[in-house]
Amino acid sequence: MITVTMRLARRVQPLGCVLALRFLVLVLWDVPAAWALDNGLATTPTMGWLHWERFMCNTDCEEEPDSCISEKLFMQMADLMDSEGWKEVGYEYLCIDDCWMAPQRDSKGRLQADPTRFPSGIHYLANYVHSKGLKLGIYADVGKKTCAGYPGSFGYYDIDAKLFADWGVDLLKFDGCYCDSVEQLANGYKHMSLALNKTGRSIVYSCEWPLYMWPFRKPNYTEIRQYCNHWRNTGDVYDSWQSVKSILNWVSFNQKTIVTVAGPGGWNDPDMLVIGNFGLSWDQQITQMALWAIMAAPLLMSNDLRHISTQAKALLQNKDVIAINQDPLGKQGYLLRKEDNIEVWERPLSNLAWAVAMVNMQEIGGPRSFTINIASLGQGVACNPACHITELLPVKTKLGFYEWTSCLKTRINPSGTVLLRLESQTT
Ligand code: GLA
Repeated sequence: MITVTMRLARRVQPLGCVLALRFLVLVLWDVPAAWALDNGLATTPTMGWLHWERFMCNTDCEEEPDSCISEKLFMQMADLMDSEGWKEVGYEYLCIDDCWMAPQRDSKGRLQADPTRFPSGIHYLANYVHSKGLKLGIYADVGKKTCAGYPGSFGYYDIDAKLFADWGVDLLKFDGCYCDSVEQLANGYKHMSLALNKTGRSIVYSCEWPLYMWPFRKPNYTEIRQYCNHWRNTGDVYDSWQSVKSILNWVSFNQKTIVTVAGPGGWNDPDMLVIGNFGLSWDQQITQMALWAIMAAPLLMSNDLRHISTQAKALLQNKDVIAINQDPLGKQGYLLRKEDNIEVWERPLSNLAWAVAMVNMQEIGGPRSFTINIASLGQGVACNPACHITELLPVKTKLGFYEWTSCLKTRINPSGTVLLRLESQTT
């Protein structure tokens, strides 16, 4: 068992730039250095699989034995994460969402898994998942009930944390339904963080605290970061372009508040990847993958790994895009500008590299040409005096050497994205 101590550590963020003036700008931009939940976890965004968007609260195993929430479903996903290359590229956490519980706690007040759908119990499932070299995530709720109406953890935080640790759970998604007040919500999220820490087991703590806080007051992200490894800001992702687009709009609209707070140990969570399902076109799937990488988002797929196209699998397993998402500098990207329905997003990476995503938000017409001044990218330093540019999406292509004064021309499909990696060339 790993002993975890919670220290509130002031993070010194490494800066990467070559011009003194820009250095100053970056220093100012970076001032609110965040205090983090330093449990040693989520130093890069969590990667894995989470059942909710695809399987929801399907408890009817008689009618739908292959898609109900049961230990069989998770064991099958674990087998595939192990055998189909998912684990190798970083998808490590296999996460249970709502509806795993029996409707009542046991006589000792402990949560219990539904006995017909999880006959072997969660401890057994955790062992199974660990035997595949993966980690197990579970779900509970800070209030009196989970969002789907199962027993909530209010009044049981310490008992539940200990039970999860005893079972061998490695991640807790803690929802925020059925709370009586914002104070109860905030206290509950903090209490559970400390309770998990007290167990001595390394358990990633995934919160929805700010999402439930926003209707009442602006969340204090510095505080949230002290307690959570990632936190949801936006409503549930659906399997639709409308949903992915509204999440991106929310993030860019609120970027001044949320971008600087993200970093190793604590991340903004724009919710699951729905790539490989039914609702997104190919270009829209590319956009989700590219932008989740730019946003340094947890990559939690919600799809059916037993039935997934080769194309969607290749996109989700794209090592170059995953490397951007997992970049050790740990800075979240942001919307640089939007003009004529084309959004340009960028993200600073380690070794003075940058990722740039150009999204065509126009949903009428065909592919659009777009020309960008290289000097406008990466706060003026990414390609100063020059850089090598590689297109990673939609198709990996080496675009070559670009000088600071040059332009880059590209074509972007409707609701699609061109994702670039810029490698600095300083000599
Ligand atoms: C909320 C959460 C979702 C999911 C459901 C489960 O809506 O935001 O991600 O966990 O509850 O009931």
